[in-house]
Amino acid sequence: MSDNDEEMPVPFLDLACAFRANEKAWLSRIREIGASGCFILGQEVAAFEREFARYMGIKHAVAVASGTDALVLGLRALGIGPGDEVITTPYSFFASSEAISMVGAIPVFADIDRNSFTIDPHRITEKIGARTRAILPVHIFGHACDMAAILKIARAHGLVVIEDCAQAFGAKSNGEYVGALGDCGCFSFYPTKVLGCYGDGGMLTSNDDGIQEHVRRLRNHGMVASYMHAEFGCNSRLDEIQAAALRLKLQCINDDINARRKIAAQYARLLSGLELAIPQSPDAESHVYGVYTIRLKNRDAVRRSLAERRISTAVYYPLGLHLQEVYRGLGYATGSMPVCERMTAENLSLPIYPGMPQRHIERVCNALNGAVQ
Ligand SMILES: Cc1ncc(COP(=O)(O)O)c(C=O)c1O
Repeated sequence: MSDNDEEMPVPFLDLACAFRANEKAWLSRIREIGASGCFILGQEVAAFEREFARYMGIKHAVAVASGTDALVLGLRALGIGPGDEVITTPYSFFASSEAISMVGAIPVFADIDRNSFTIDPHRITEKIGARTRAILPVHIFGHACDMAAILKIARAHGLVVIEDCAQAFGAKSNGEYVGALGDCGCFSFYPTKVLGCYGDGGMLTSNDDGIQEHVRRLRNHGMVASYMHAEFGCNSRLDEIQAAALRLKLQCINDDINARRKIAAQYARLLSGLELAIPQSPDAESHVYGVYTIRLKNRDAVRRSLAERRISTAVYYPLGLHLQEVYRGLGYATGSMPVCERMTAENLSLPIYPGMPQRHIERVCNALNGAVQ
């Protein structure tokens, strides 16, 4: 540790650190891809789809251009469209409900569980109506939703389940990978994610042959044979260069997830006894700590105090989806999702990433010790 280490910034993430680990191998693959002349949906993408499906123990994985596209195309392949209602969480990144709106369906928000930040199955049942077609749970921050309860409700009411796994690659619910439990799983490879690339990318997983065939068609303009189009699709193709990076990262993903879990365990130990709530996980496999989010009463003052010590934090999220301006027409009032609304005032996400220096973990915890009353 250098003399002035206390003055060095503690970043929220260090994506360049992860890049350095793969730099040589990736650049060499880029040269080979360049020499092959095949840049989109080629052998790298096909191999990555196979390896991803094998890792998860699922039949199909279809690479697309983003996590948002995976959600939109998954909803479309399941026949969700105008007039349909999809029950989802108000506590997520906007893309979760945006995808529902983009296919013309209506998001119906059900409040969350205060310990996991994930949708509360008890609140789902009371939102089911004549137009409900699907449930879209989000494994937020890398924490698996209570999928057993959600699937039971879905089966009882004839609903399909689209899992938003954007933040939760590698998390398990009752011993099974998220994304392998519902009708389809949707992943994002945005660079900050647990499995992230060096650009944009996404994946849809499913055990259903029909869904995977349909999404393969939709991602390429609804093309059924060369320049023959059976329906409107879009351009949502993954490129070879991103697939090559993702294949390299998949090889060491278990180490990365273990590194996140070790940091989470240290935070839990060093923050115990303080007036704050740390993430709860029912077992060792259900959380991958894509984001490490604590809850505390005087969030904004604590955040300012950490910033004064050059420690970066984030607020995920400052406003529930049900209160976003764009959904004003849906008529949700302040107070309609009390748990979510409380969480938006109390959440604070701390730095976490594989390779995070030990001294940074300690500086975050020391600063919290000083700032939390
Ligand atoms: C929960 C959630 N869903 C969906 C998305 C959308 O993924 P992408 O940015 O790859 O479109 C994100 C990305 O941040 C996310 O966090």
